[in-house]
Amino acid sequence: MSENNEPFMHKVDGSAILTFVGIVFLFSFAVVITLLAPRYMDKTWMEPTSSYQVQMYEIADPNIYFSRLRSDSTELQSVYHLKQEYTLLAFQEAEVVRFVAPPELQKFITKYQDPKLRLTSHLMLLRKPQPASSFNAVEAANRLRADLQKQWEKENPNWIEEGLQKPAFDILEVFEPIGEDAFAIAPTDRILENWTDKDYVILDEEVKQPYHRDSGVVYVNNPTEYRVSFFSIGQEEGWSYDPEGESIKDLAELTSHPLGFRSRQDLIEFGEHLYAIEGCWYCHTDQTRTIIQDVVLNGSESYPAPPSSANEYIYQKISFPGTRRIGPDVSRVGVKRPSRDWHQSHFWSPKTASRGSIMPSFQHFFDYDPRGTSRRETGIPNYKFEAIFQYLMTKGTRITSPTEAWWLGKDPVQTKEIIEGKKKIQ
Ligand code: HEC
Repeated sequence: MSENNEPFMHKVDGSAILTFVGIVFLFSFAVVITLLAPRYMDKTWMEPTSSYQVQMYEIADPNIYFSRLRSDSTELQSVYHLKQEYTLLAFQEAEVVRFVAPPELQKFITKYQDPKLRLTSHLMLLRKPQPASSFNAVEAANRLRADLQKQWEKENPNWIEEGLQKPAFDILEVFEPIGEDAFAIAPTDRILENWTDKDYVILDEEVKQPYHRDSGVVYVNNPTEYRVSFFSIGQEEGWSYDPEGESIKDLAELTSHPLGFRSRQDLIEFGEHLYAIEGCWYCHTDQTRTIIQDVVLNGSESYPAPPSSANEYIYQKISFPGTRRIGPDVSRVGVKRPSRDWHQSHFWSPKTASRGSIMPSFQHFFDYDPRGTSRRETGIPNYKFEAIFQYLMTKGTRITSPTEAWWLGKDPVQTKEIIEGKKKIQ
């Protein structure tokens, strides 16, 4: 028996070694490919290439707060809550809006007609010029106004004969607010701040947020300090925006009674609730499938929209993939239709915004304007409109680039950390 067994064992040994070597070779080959491949990959696989990938609203503007302007009014007021070294700021002059600043802040001003926009993460705001011991902004503003008017008269020597009106120059002071929180109104559209892909320079030596280096960077243009004054008439107490009133100290004051601002995140959650109870999901799906009609229709031929992935839904309590497409898919609507005005007229009257639409109108997202003082064609958008709009704007704007998601983001928790900036993308 043992004589028969020995050669048999030898045979097994030989092929076992071969099999083992084979397995080791295949394994190390796979490891080497996995480690080396990313180095030789097309750059566009690793970096955001389309607007879908650079717009991440969770990062871009979590600092926006909304409230009714006064307790008895339906008009909404929005405020930026700016944290130090968070949002990029720009102070850009226009023909009739000019800025004064102490010498050390001069470099942050983008002068009138300067083609390069100066962006900074240094926290500053604009206010009515005020005299201080170190820099008298009132004097500087008066001097600048006089200079500008002289220059204008020189450029328009026959202004009286021609019946021209002297421009009223609005001069504001750039200053550094004290304290950790700062509040500002950005004189732009409520939500979409300006986007820029080129022609800007970031003045800070070190920018803490990596996404500030992305193209498509988000910034707040000309944020004016937010001040309020309080009033009481009989029983009723209220407040209103007042550039000469008191400035708000901190976030707690902004969100508590009587100002009662709500964060954008609160509105998004309310919007999700509205999406459920209004039955939007009867007619709309919320998923971009991998097939061509989805990626091209939700994007374009040159920038196909990325298919939906699990990590996009991590902030939602309920997700609505949907089953029927009576209306278009909404999963990329934040990129496809970012205009607040468009949604306003669309919800007010879908047929006028989109010919032949069978979508019902949602006029309860608006309050009536009985005295017609706001001269709007639609009602005044209320919290419901703002909430559903904010919710829709998250659609397609929380996407990381495909390779980031592929290498790092399979685990949605990790993706969340990356989105929130707690984990770095290597
Ligand atoms: C009866 C079905 C129906 C319901 C319910 C419905 N919609 Fe629509 N929706 C449509 C149709 C059809 C269109 C395409 C025509 C148009 O633009 O109005 C559309 C278009 C849209 C668009 C524009 C999408 C794009 O890519 O152009 C948005 C955004 C939208 N709906 C949001 C909503 C929201 C939010 C709700 C719930 C508050 C809702 N819809 C409820 C049928 C519906």
